[in-house]
Amino acid sequence: MSSTAESIDRSAGISYQELISRDVVPPPDALTLESPYESDLTSVPVTRYADPAFHELEMEKLWPRVWQMACREEEIPTVGDYIVYELGRFSILVVRTSEGIRAHHNVCRHRGRRLKDFDGHAANFICPFHGFSWNLDGSARGVTSDWDFPHVDKKDFALSPVKTGTWGGWVFVNMDMDAEPLDEFLKDLAAQFDYWKPAERYVEAHVGKVMKCNWKACQEAFMEAFHVITTHPQLLAGIGDENTQYDAWGNLSRAITPNATPSPHIKWDPTEQDMLEAVSMRDLDGPEMPVLPDGLTARAAMAAGMRAGMQQIVGDDVVLSDAELSDSIYYTQFPNFHPWGGMNRIVYRFRPWQDRHDRCLMECYYLSPFQGERPDPAPLHLLGEDEPWTDAPELGMLAKVFTQDTFNLPQVQKGLESAQFDEVVFANYQETKLRHFHDLLSEWIK
Ligand code: FES
Ligand SMILES: [Fe+2]
Repeated sequence: MSSTAESIDRSAGISYQELISRDVVPPPDALTLESPYESDLTSVPVTRYADPAFHELEMEKLWPRVWQMACREEEIPTVGDYIVYELGRFSILVVRTSEGIRAHHNVCRHRGRRLKDFDGHAANFICPFHGFSWNLDGSARGVTSDWDFPHVDKKDFALSPVKTGTWGGWVFVNMDMDAEPLDEFLKDLAAQFDYWKPAERYVEAHVGKVMKCNWKACQEAFMEAFHVITTHPQLLAGIGDENTQYDAWGNLSRAITPNATPSPHIKWDPTEQDMLEAVSMRDLDGPEMPVLPDGLTARAAMAAGMRAGMQQIVGDDVVLSDAELSDSIYYTQFPNFHPWGGMNRIVYRFRPWQDRHDRCLMECYYLSPFQGERPDPAPLHLLGEDEPWTDAPELGMLAKVFTQDTFNLPQVQKGLESAQFDEVVFANYQETKLRHFHDLLSEWIK
């Protein structure tokens, strides 16, 4: 599916590889890779977002068979800790047992009540309806009035199992016990993130918000820099939106948007100071920014500022390149897991909300390095569909960016639900990640 870089039309201006070749502290190997994506897919049916029947198809063919991120290992640190992972109609208990992390469908095998409504800690799982119970490993423990159930053999009465695996401190689950090994499914992601050691970070913040749109429409707003010109015009002097490099490998895609470099869209020449102020999102009513010394580029200054703070945490022996400190390096592991590369802390996950095609849950984790003992992970701060991102101050400046990013999405959903045409169209290059995602999705729903 890949081809040479030369065969893909790119925008005017400097290429990402050219830009990083001039950096003061050069990038790690992963950022010098190029793998442009080629496929014939340039449009997908509107029904993928707007039709409950397509949501049903995903519930039948995609979600019960695909590996998906359920939580962090650090969220269930001791034996008996469990989380309730919900995906549409499915609910899964992910639990730490003495034999490692296990997962079970969160459904009582008596008359079907959800066993647990919330995350917690338990010695065993006791159903609140009639008191049947299961051990943490899913085996049956107790049948209430067992004299009345001579037909139930406890050996065959385990909770329905779910496959588990871990990578980078994340726990993944798969409802298909015959699924391919997680290592195989994640191999490209693992190869590129080996360098950044995500297991050695902790959850500094975790914010979720219910969004009034399909989960794919939502995540696609975070898979391209094409929207910057209209959605974040304040950034244009300091973001190489059209110079973004897009790549794909197997189940993985990537975009790298260079920062502290001007957008090819703008028709004036910003100074290095203009670039730095734009990318720093300086509040025009706020304090002045320090003036850049002559000869120092915005890109080098941005990297140097971040390097000083980061080096205190990760230690002097870790090389922190300009690109890892400055650029937006956003990966997508099919179907819905979006860790950022480099020293950026962001990780997104998107999934249907409450089994609806027109609502989703968007989550943002800040996965941060730490010194000394691992701090406790931040619990989920859940915002309702009418609560603004700015109600989550732990997101800092990003809350304002998300407000811009998500402003259009309810209107996208409304538009798609009443569209009088059959297909949405994608840009060849700048919407690479969307095209790659939908090609994979087509395979899964066949
Ligand atoms: S439904 Fe769970 S014990 Fe009866
Ligand atoms: Fe954005």
